[in-house]
Amino acid sequence: MSVAAKKRENYKPLLWNPINILLDFQIHKNYSFVKSNILFEKNNQNNIQNVLLESSIELNGIDLETINLQISIDNKPFYNLDIKTIFINDELISIPIPNDAVTVRILSKVKLYPSDNFSLEGLYESNQMLCTQCEPEGFRKITWFPDRPDCLSIFKVNIEAPISFNTMLSNGNLIDEGIIKDYNDKSVRHFKTWNDPFPKPSYLFALVVGNLEVTSSTFTTFSNKIINLEIYTEIGNKHLTGYAMKSLKKAMDWDERKYGLEYDLECFMIVAVSHFNMGAMENKGLNIFNSKFILADLNSATDYDLQNIEAIVAHEYFHNWTGNRVTCRDWFQLTLKEGLTVFRDQEFSADMNDRGVKRIEDVILLRSIQFPEDAGSNKHPIRPDEYMEINNFYTPTVYEKGAEVIRMIYNYLGEKLYRKGMDVYFNKFDGKAVTCEDFLKALELGSNLNLDLFKEWYSQAGTPTLNIKRVAHNNKIVFDLYQTVNEQKSYLPIPIAISLIDKKGDLVEFSINNSKNEYEHVYLLSKSNDKIEISCHEDAVVPSLLRGFSAPVNIKTDLTIIEYLHILKHDNDSFNKWEAIQNLYLSCLENEENISLITSILSEFLNKKIISLSLIAYLLELPSKTVIENLSNVSDPIDIYHVRRNLIKKIGLSLQSVFEKTSSNLMKNDINQTNKTGERLLLGKILNFLVLVQSNIGIKLAEKISLSDNMTLSSIGLKSLCQGDSENSLKYLNNFYSKWKSNSLVLEKWFEMMSTLNIDGEGLKLIKKLLFHKAFDYKNPNKLRSVLGSFQRENTLLFHANDSSGYNFVSDQIILIDIKNPQAAARLILPLTRFNNYNEIRKGKMKQALYKIYNKKGLSSDLSEIIAKALK
Ligand code: PHE
Ligand code: ZN
Repeated sequence: MSVAAKKRENYKPLLWNPINILLDFQIHKNYSFVKSNILFEKNNQNNIQNVLLESSIELNGIDLETINLQISIDNKPFYNLDIKTIFINDELISIPIPNDAVTVRILSKVKLYPSDNFSLEGLYESNQMLCTQCEPEGFRKITWFPDRPDCLSIFKVNIEAPISFNTMLSNGNLIDEGIIKDYNDKSVRHFKTWNDPFPKPSYLFALVVGNLEVTSSTFTTFSNKIINLEIYTEIGNKHLTGYAMKSLKKAMDWDERKYGLEYDLECFMIVAVSHFNMGAMENKGLNIFNSKFILADLNSATDYDLQNIEAIVAHEYFHNWTGNRVTCRDWFQLTLKEGLTVFRDQEFSADMNDRGVKRIEDVILLRSIQFPEDAGSNKHPIRPDEYMEINNFYTPTVYEKGAEVIRMIYNYLGEKLYRKGMDVYFNKFDGKAVTCEDFLKALELGSNLNLDLFKEWYSQAGTPTLNIKRVAHNNKIVFDLYQTVNEQKSYLPIPIAISLIDKKGDLVEFSINNSKNEYEHVYLLSKSNDKIEISCHEDAVVPSLLRGFSAPVNIKTDLTIIEYLHILKHDNDSFNKWEAIQNLYLSCLENEENISLITSILSEFLNKKIISLSLIAYLLELPSKTVIENLSNVSDPIDIYHVRRNLIKKIGLSLQSVFEKTSSNLMKNDINQTNKTGERLLLGKILNFLVLVQSNIGIKLAEKISLSDNMTLSSIGLKSLCQGDSENSLKYLNNFYSKWKSNSLVLEKWFEMMSTLNIDGEGLKLIKKLLFHKAFDYKNPNKLRSVLGSFQRENTLLFHANDSSGYNFVSDQIILIDIKNPQAAARLILPLTRFNNYNEIRKGKMKQALYKIYNKKGLSSDLSEIIAKALK
């Protein structure tokens, strides 16, 4: 269905607010009834009445079988509403209300069929469990309601279900429960009633009914309230919740210490479900998670999985204040809660782990998914001005770039003033639905600093490029700064963190434009061109620029190879060490002689262990395919794949003996112990090189650890084997499959690795077969991602095959997926739209595959929005 774009400038407040809602769910095996009773009050905020001439109440509803709909105005008797007469379109009704009315009550009863709902929005079934997903607009699939984030209601929810479901959950606190005899079907039923005292928008509503296991614990808050913590899972998974529970407690503690924020209900519940479109959802008091981000033990989860669990559990918990207590006025403001909450979870993870390494990981993610988005057909400001389908705007731009913008503001204000500003934000806007301007205003009030400049980051799409050139004269260095955004000359405020490193490798004091002497200065570039003058005592210094990636920009400098090597060796900023080696690697694409310059420093790091093993591991990570593709606008993915792989091989050959020695040393050191994460990360990177250069020692080791009982070791072994001879890796993957065939989450890893294979004589056939595998489930987005996502991301040669067979395979699948789950389809299509930097022939082929989908009838608005933009 094609719909008109919604525009941010068209926001209108409601005249009638649903201040109170009673929901009653009667759950049956194949269907459910939902009764709702909503009390509306007139919004008497100034001049709203003048804005809306007609007094009416608009209710959203999708796929609802309406049994009845009744209204009572000012406590007069209820009367029936006829949907046909108030119907605006398939998904909206508008009920006229007399201008002088004061209160309105609307009753409705609808029938739902959760087991036929494959969109994973609204009320749906996942492995016999019933659960909900309402953000952003799923509540309208549950009952008639003004389904928008700016109206906050008190929810009271009664759930009644057969006794075979032992669990019935909703938001807030449990206030009643009991047994009911149902004389119709003679079975015993029971009920629970939940009350959430905090007003919330409908997107935070949740309900779960199932036969589940629970793990319980408690957390004592700083004011000594004891909170019950509960994690619910499908039967048989209870033993896999320990890590998530520990992470939750760490997050609760961190939010108290860093932000002074305490949890506010009697209990905090998490439910892990198998079928989920995203990572997780922050429903008030009842988070619902993709089970992949809850369930783990050392046997079945990798270090990387555990790190994700810690971060996502924290992210959803942090939303309780940034998102729930203070929420968004409209969906254009999504970054208000998401950018801010990602920033909070990044800082949490940095405090729990290695801060420098965490920053590198965040930048890798930003560059590999957000920069391409910002340069492609779906580019948008962190706060978009318009959209067709809001589901398409849960993007790396809104989330990750949004977090970068908060980080710049945080660094500009400093920790103390930022905290004062956040205190104002929570005090002023608790219980309100607000905008990004409100957020900035609170920070200004708390800090007494003006943030006008930063507003531009909310409305400008595209990654700016920052150019820095140096001229040395009269014992000073003058930096010439110049920025461009989208080829235009418009500009953004760019904080540039600068240090100077002397010949010995130490930081030296310096001053910028005659300010005070410092070891690090953050210069705020606030125009398109600027010059700054640096004075210091030393003369032979190397500038370390944009330290810690102080702004989300592309940077071009006149630093030389020798200077990058100096930074790599001596800079105390982990990010800039890593950034230096990224530039050095790129320089090898033009000049292979640079390889030996890099490898001699790397072997020194490997031998002397002067920096952390995880940092060394990241230094061994070459610029991604996307980064290399973005260097030119006529590149071809197949060429880039070979170029990159050849460089890896050359580095591998030059360091082969060091790598072989290091890997056997790493193995000697109880490498499967929990805390040896750096060791395992490094071993994984090294094995990739060794397998590629066909080192016997490397291959033997990879084969050996692929059989390990430690999942991290097993998967780094297998992944490195997959880089080399596919036929051999298939043998080990089969082995892995037999060992894990009854564990659905681990099989996702297997599907993922299988999808990267390119076996002579099999090629695409092997990938297609995966879709018919008995463990594959079309209804499960994790499975779709682990085959189709991983195929497009990793299997360059087959995906980009010159005969378009890879493109056709993916587009055929996406057409099928769109019928059941449009959100999933609209995400899986994205790699097919990333052709901006490719040559014309390649572009033509990819576009042809998109046209094939676009010309199908009955495409979802999700998918057609993405494709239309790409074809424009
Ligand atoms: N709000 C969720 C989060 O980022 C993401 C989400 C969006 C989940 C939409 C489901 C649907 O924490
Ligand atoms: Zn979020």
